[in-house]
Amino acid sequence: MTKTELKNGIYWVGAVDGNVRDFHGYRTRLGTSYNAYLIVDDKLTLVDTVKKGFGPDLLRHVAGIADPSKIENLIVNHVEMDHSGAIPEVCAAAPRARIYCTSRGREGLIKHYGMKDREFCVVKTGDKLSLGKKTLTFVTAPMVHWPDSMFTYCVEDRILLPNDAFGQHVGHPLRFADEIGEDLCLEEAAKYYANILMPLGGVISKKIEEFRAMDLPVEMIAPSHGAIWRKDPLRIVEAYARWTAQETVPKVVIVYDTMWESTDKLARRLVECLASPGLEVKLYHLRKSDNSQIVRDILDARVLLFGSPTLNSDMFWTMGGFLTYLRGLKPKNKKVGIFGSYGWAEGASRAIRRDIEAMDLEMIEPPFEVQYIPSEEELSRLADYAKVITRAAKEPATK
Ligand code: FEO
Repeated sequence: MTKTELKNGIYWVGAVDGNVRDFHGYRTRLGTSYNAYLIVDDKLTLVDTVKKGFGPDLLRHVAGIADPSKIENLIVNHVEMDHSGAIPEVCAAAPRARIYCTSRGREGLIKHYGMKDREFCVVKTGDKLSLGKKTLTFVTAPMVHWPDSMFTYCVEDRILLPNDAFGQHVGHPLRFADEIGEDLCLEEAAKYYANILMPLGGVISKKIEEFRAMDLPVEMIAPSHGAIWRKDPLRIVEAYARWTAQETVPKVVIVYDTMWESTDKLARRLVECLASPGLEVKLYHLRKSDNSQIVRDILDARVLLFGSPTLNSDMFWTMGGFLTYLRGLKPKNKKVGIFGSYGWAEGASRAIRRDIEAMDLEMIEPPFEVQYIPSEEELSRLADYAKVITRAAKEPATK
């Protein structure tokens, strides 16, 4: 296998999981990778490991560069099992390795893997580790993505290893974003941020500011999933600034389900009525769409339209599941409209409204509802509703 050297003896030694399509519910259309990095210096150092089952790949990649038994330091930036699953195999192969992690990292590792006999070095922001010619600096990053998370910075080579931050689920034979395609990697990074990190945006924003204030120059960002940002690493940092601020653009995302096609008729007519230059419109039928992609589009959308028939005096069950997922992601700066159909009694719009209020998002009133099947007169009234939606999409939300 070709070795991937980031810079001066720092190598990618992770594993590509190209076939994974479901990452705890996140649809990974391009697979993913679990990135680990080997630093060759007087003290051989491994930064992070890989998911359980991929340990042999990791150790084979290490062995192509150095003897795994010579690993002296194992840096654990994050305990989640996609990065720590191979730690037992690494510890067996590298019996002398001391583990560097945060105090919460130590707790998490003991809970996951026992490891009471292993030597731990608990680190905090600003602590340094000399490897010989190279130095590592640690920056604790609680809740980016778990309480245990931290970043590792390679001082002389100006490489940031921030684990989950700035990553994407891209499982590709090539390692660098400029080789794979920066736009594709940026789009997948947006999807990753929206589905994994969005509820933590405030913490992430503060952490980025804190890191900037440390005045540590960054020439490369090597996350724990997907492509490494080498050509213009600030591009992904700037994108994170937009995403953590939940900046929106004139964009409407219509998310709906349907029983006897009445809500479908409303949704498709709405798309026709909303068509205008400068307004992006996305349409998603819940049972035919990937929730991860819907959430990626919601990230920068200004208006969300949720459509559902009434079923058993409630919203359709797919809408209930989707709104539960969305509520946990804590979207902000959105205006929300509701549309749909009912038979002999209403219920869906009331149930959707309850969830929107729980998310503290701005409502566009009133909902657009029809009984049984929308008449042509009712469908034609959607043109007026679309004008309201278009106006709403032109101005940012007020809460
Ligand atoms: Fe990629 Fe939070 O683990």
